[in-house]
Amino acid sequence: MTSQPAVDSVLHLDSISVDFGQVRVLDDISLTVRRGEVVGVVGESGSGKTTLARTVLRAVAPAEGRVNVAGRDVTKLRGGALRAWRRSGAVQYVFQDPLRSLDPGVAVADSIVEGLRIAKVPPADAARRRAAALEAVGLDEDLIARLPSGLSGGQRQRAAIARALVVEPQLLVLDEPVSALDAASRDRVVQALIALRDQRGSDLAMLVISHDIGSLAAMSDRLVVLNRGRIVEDGPTRRVVAQPEHPYTRRLIDSVPLIHTPSANRP
Ligand SMILES: Nc1ncnc2c1ncn2[C@@H]1O[C@H](COP(=O)(O)OP(=O)(O)OP(=O)(O)O)[C@@H](O)[C@H]1O
Ligand SMILES: [Mg+2]
Repeated sequence: MTSQPAVDSVLHLDSISVDFGQVRVLDDISLTVRRGEVVGVVGESGSGKTTLARTVLRAVAPAEGRVNVAGRDVTKLRGGALRAWRRSGAVQYVFQDPLRSLDPGVAVADSIVEGLRIAKVPPADAARRRAAALEAVGLDEDLIARLPSGLSGGQRQRAAIARALVVEPQLLVLDEPVSALDAASRDRVVQALIALRDQRGSDLAMLVISHDIGSLAAMSDRLVVLNRGRIVEDGPTRRVVAQPEHPYTRRLIDSVPLIHTPSANRP
């Protein structure tokens, strides 16, 4: 069975399977992210979360199924066409380790607008977009003259998110954006993502990946639960947290002392 993406979908995975050698790592994954929606993907280590993110970016080729991003079927893109699509910036990726996005020898200010410079966006326009992105993630302008080593882990991760935002993607994929951070920095980044979700509305969708259902629930409209490469649950965050349908989801929830869900879950 194949399904067509909804008109307002920015990501539509249709029955995706991914194999590494003989091992099926993702098995029959179907998942839609609608415009402006924040979808959290939660699962234990090894459940296939990063592989799912890499499939969205087409860094991994699925053995079966289709990948549609912002109305474009990218399943079969290769070589130059794949690189051109990546450069278009429709999807941006934020790594667990912000130092993978920020060049250690370059001032943070320059790293943030690197993509715009390559795209030959005029410097004044780039500076304006950088200021808007910094404000969106709550990062002080004074900090960005520094090298990444001069920032805290949380500040660095917010700079990496700002770097992704300046390109004005329709979809931001964040793979464990807070896992490497201490508790205080984690809170700042989670708050920045919640603020982004509220400010950008339908302009920005996010696929946020984490093994920590607590921080995901705070920012996600929907939760998708991945267990051994299969989706075992997919629903509105408050429903999934209050009435999990799958025992695996219940176990994840029971392992966290207190879960906050968004105060105003949008439809
Ligand atoms: N390039 C690869 N070649 C072979 N096996 C791989 C490759 N990448 C991932 N795997 C395997 O696929 C499975 C899923 O890995 P993946 O990295 O997607 O999990 P994850 O949910 O992101 O885990 P974590 O929470 O530890 O980051 C694991 O069993 C992993 O060993
Ligand atoms: Mg991972």
